[in-house]
Amino acid sequence: DIQGFVFDLDGVITDTARLHSQAWRHIAEQVGTPWSQKLQDSLKGISRMESLELILQAGNREHDFTDAQKQELATAKNKEYLRLVEQLTPADILPGVSDFLRDLYNHEYRMAIASASKNAPTVLEHLGIARYFHNVVDPSTLKHGKPDPEIFTKAAALINLDPQVCIGVEDAAAGVAGINAAGETSIGIGDPQVLSAADINFTSTEQLSLANIRHAMRQPVA
Ligand code: G6P
Ligand code: MG
Repeated sequence: DIQGFVFDLDGVITDTARLHSQAWRHIAEQVGTPWSQKLQDSLKGISRMESLELILQAGNREHDFTDAQKQELATAKNKEYLRLVEQLTPADILPGVSDFLRDLYNHEYRMAIASASKNAPTVLEHLGIARYFHNVVDPSTLKHGKPDPEIFTKAAALINLDPQVCIGVEDAAAGVAGINAAGETSIGIGDPQVLSAADINFTSTEQLSLANIRHAMRQPVA
């Protein structure tokens, strides 16, 4: 039986993907990388430095910057991102998520955040939902990013559960792959074609409910 939930943050609990993109777009303009939807999507769930590398590669500029300059660019991006995060309020929680979190909490499920973002605790504070989570994985303690299962394995361990009794919730294909590799049950939120590896697909956060999950888990795998 399921005893815990491990949540991605950006794109699952709140639409900070939009804010990350806005901040990265300015950096891309600065280094002369053309912005595209594909580039934007590829940055989901990817760490700050890896995101910068992808942006530099997209403009064939990966060899044009020293490590110190890359640090400066990443710091500038984060400064702008934090300026945008300052404006987040509980109204920025995605539809259905507040009720779902409250319901899980009241049913005494254990809950953790598995986000690659070093800003996750700040975002949770602004949204007013930090108290629901028993733990937030610190991504600076990880050796491998998503799609590696490490962050999801670690999240389960931090809430003292076996991965087998945990459900992971993700909006990125790399995240779903990580959840599956960790041996947890995966819920993919978004385009079912992009997230076809997920055990359960919901097109929107509005579908997140214990009743819908129970129903989906009873369905035989297609
Ligand atoms: C999440 C987002 C990524 C972001 C990463 C690192 O995984 O989906 O777009 O790059 O976190 O975030 P940070 O706040 O540490 O720069
Ligand atoms: Mg995400």
